[in-house]
Amino acid sequence: MSVVLLRAPPDVGVASAVREGLGGERKHLPPWLLYDEEGSRLFERITTLPSYYLTRAERAVLEAHAGEILDAWGTRVDEVVELGAGTATKSQLLLRVLVARQGSTCFVPVDVSAAPVNQARARLARELPTVTVAPMFQQHEAALAALAARPTRRVVLFLGSSIGNLEPNEAVSLARAVRGCIAPGPEGTGGALVLGTDLRKSPELLLPAYDDPEGVSAAFNRNVLARINRELGGRFDLSAVRHVAEWNEPGSRMDMYLESLRDQSVPITALGMTVRLGRGERIHTESSRKYGIEDVDALLGSAGMRRLRTWTDPERRFAVHVAGVI
Ligand code: AVJ
Repeated sequence: MSVVLLRAPPDVGVASAVREGLGGERKHLPPWLLYDEEGSRLFERITTLPSYYLTRAERAVLEAHAGEILDAWGTRVDEVVELGAGTATKSQLLLRVLVARQGSTCFVPVDVSAAPVNQARARLARELPTVTVAPMFQQHEAALAALAARPTRRVVLFLGSSIGNLEPNEAVSLARAVRGCIAPGPEGTGGALVLGTDLRKSPELLLPAYDDPEGVSAAFNRNVLARINRELGGRFDLSAVRHVAEWNEPGSRMDMYLESLRDQSVPITALGMTVRLGRGERIHTESSRKYGIEDVDALLGSAGMRRLRTWTDPERRFAVHVAGVI
């Protein structure tokens, strides 16, 4: 069966995000910028690294408890939405059990990168042909707003600890947008959220997960500058920055930066700007928050949802929660 390749919109706000993030005093870039085609490929490689325990731990939870997770959703599910679906290999574990129970469903992968989603569509067409795949290449909140306008029996998956990338206020705003998509409505519409969160743990386990000896995390981080070079005519020299991953105890998060190894001035042609970086100056590229169960409850509560059940892997590294609307 041939699958038509879909493309992401050419501009998902890249230029304005770069102009805003590198124009000011404290330099920063939004984490979603890391995921162009090359970045998504590098992230897929990260998920296979021995030190990056997150994906394996979450997959172990989904494999062991898929049936119970579906039980917590309740009756028939007409639509499974996945925020940041990527190649959708973990969600496929749930979809497989779902179609075994009810025959068919619709799967809506939401992602800003088209290539991994096209891979997922091709694989699902082969392996779970009764699943209709309808991707949305948008930022999460835009997609959720569009989905809220058409109520159905829906489950939203937000897996992989991706919630950890968001600032606390952004996480609440996203959770509220999810609530709008799963709130009970007429004719049994409404549904549940499945949220995957990395649990707080010793920095000795966290640091190698975000700064692996193979150097893939560093390449993933640096790729954001390569992307600016490719798409906006930037002149960043990737060997003039180093990858930094630090545990931030008060913030309960890993912070990732690109640190300039020398004084440099970098033109970004398409933006008509020049970025000046001092030696040792950092660009914040990403934070990865580690949630305790009580943090998950606080987040859900402030968005009008509540946690129904939680499963963890045997080593208690990673948690998967099912939540419903209060
Ligand atoms: C995809 C956001 C969950 O925070 O662990 C992995 C991204 N960054 N290594 C994470 C990431 C560096 C990842 N998330």
